[in-house]
Amino acid sequence: MSVFHDFDVLVIGSGAAGLSLGLQVADTAKVAILSKNKLHQGSTSWAQGGIAAVLDNRDTTASHIEDTMIAGAGLCHEDRVMQVVENGREAIDWLVKQGVAFTKETDVKKDIFVDGDYHLTKEGGHSFRRVIHATDATGQEVQQSLEAQARNHPNITLFEHHMTVDLISNRDPDPEKRRCVGAYVFDTKKGCMDVFRAKATVLATGGASRVYLYTSNPDGSTGDGIAMAWRFGCRVANMEFNQFHPTCLYHPETRTFLLTEALRGEGAYLQLPDGERFMKRFDDRLELAPRDIVARAIDHEMKRLGIDCVYLDISHKDEKFIKDHFPTIYKRCLKLGYDLTKQPIPVVPAAHYTCGGVMTSTSGLTDVANLFAIGEVAHTGLHGANRMASNSLLECLVYANAAAKEIRTLVKQTAISTKIKPWDASRVMDSDEDVVVSHNWNELRHFMWDYVGIVRTTRRLQRAARRVDMLAGEIREYYSHFRVTPDLLELRNLVVVADLIIRSALLRTESRGLHYMLDYPETDPTMEGRDTILKPPRRPSDR
Ligand code: FAD
Ligand code: SIN
Repeated sequence: MSVFHDFDVLVIGSGAAGLSLGLQVADTAKVAILSKNKLHQGSTSWAQGGIAAVLDNRDTTASHIEDTMIAGAGLCHEDRVMQVVENGREAIDWLVKQGVAFTKETDVKKDIFVDGDYHLTKEGGHSFRRVIHATDATGQEVQQSLEAQARNHPNITLFEHHMTVDLISNRDPDPEKRRCVGAYVFDTKKGCMDVFRAKATVLATGGASRVYLYTSNPDGSTGDGIAMAWRFGCRVANMEFNQFHPTCLYHPETRTFLLTEALRGEGAYLQLPDGERFMKRFDDRLELAPRDIVARAIDHEMKRLGIDCVYLDISHKDEKFIKDHFPTIYKRCLKLGYDLTKQPIPVVPAAHYTCGGVMTSTSGLTDVANLFAIGEVAHTGLHGANRMASNSLLECLVYANAAAKEIRTLVKQTAISTKIKPWDASRVMDSDEDVVVSHNWNELRHFMWDYVGIVRTTRRLQRAARRVDMLAGEIREYYSHFRVTPDLLELRNLVVVADLIIRSALLRTESRGLHYMLDYPETDPTMEGRDTILKPPRRPSDR
């Protein structure tokens, strides 16, 4: 039986973006926040390095803007960069008010004093120490603080294990009057499809890096929001720019986990098995060059030498310093037999961040009225062709704030639509072939890694395009015959995202930032400032 829920604001996603937005509108609106699994199981909890913001009086917003634009390789939208950077301090102040305990100078070995006593670290692309953090577990601290606030707010209702399947429109024949009125949501514990009706709906569903075989991301990063928005008629931009983080632990028997860039910011070296610091052959900024350059250099060396990994070494630093700054990583590595204070750690690049996404306005509004997208799901123009480290949590916060302002007004002017029909499951049955889902899931992630990874060619992309077409057909057929499961829903979204990435990559006949094409190795100056914008081809699939 479908249950109908009515809220002023439906927030799909419970990471930094979704929780911040929920908290900012809840004083004047009734809010539902959904998570497809536990609230803390998105990428936010896994963030390590920190949040970039101009907090030291010697640093300037002009410098943060310039660094972001350089990392973004000619595709950042300067107005959006300014919007995010200039609101950085306010965003951090707000987090502190929510109870986020950032590391203070007194908590760690004194190596730099900053305004307000907070310790600031450095990461790739930043020309100044400006990354505020909670040791090496910043995301966990942010997530826990925001979750605690949300749990205690009388106007917020939290729904765990509620997976949104598709958005619902008012079906107005006049495209100008078309708006989002809610979503169909699968209650994965009860196995039923609920209807959430809302005046404003916000996608805060995170990124899509799980489309690749190796990723630093949690399991839920399957691009659901991007796929839903695409099916709903929204444009997406710059999907070819998937960021690969250079330093994820290489350990054949455990899932990939990140070794924060702040390690390099605090002096860690990248080495080959013979101890050579190879970054000097690739970039003057050495280990602190922007991520695309470091990841490509590692990939190049691994292929050149036929090795499985390179090494990250911080053991030359003081033991107490390492343990104070990186307690989580130190313990995690030790459990796996590696002592960060004594030896180099094997690392490889892995898919980490989706720079492209659903196109949004300065207040997070998408192409469809009453539908917003914030956080990693969105394309705002901040990151360009390569996101600079620690700019994404900042983007989540600034855009949550910007969207909240617009949503507060919208909610006063909008009525809840009562014309929505329940989900129709009368023509589907239980699947007798779950292997189709697991097989296609593996196949997709494998060929995305092999053909659409760090280094691309037109032929490999075309090969991937043919495979994705075939999988999309199979999955469409499967979806129309069988009852939904979380795995099927995620696969259905992943295949859409894979298709968008491949198509965008084929359209960009140059190398720029994270998109490196062997057959177009140069940057084409005529493509400077040109986003890859995909428009949904058909009439959107309204439910
Ligand atoms: P997430 O935090 O990923 O949350 C997504 C939410 O959406 C989850 O609650 C999920 O359950 C929900 N959801 C998804 N699909 C559905 C659906 N269909 N129905 C219902 N709910 C759904 N960035 C930085 O700025 N600094 C860092 O130091 C940093 N370190 C990182 C380290 C790691 C290991 C990783 C993986 C990322 C890191 N990033 C960092 C990136 C940053 O963490 C993410 O970009 C950011 O947290 C995304 O936040 P979000 O709110 O958009 O999404
Ligand atoms: C890291 O800590 O290296 C990740 C930072 C980020 O992705 O912004």
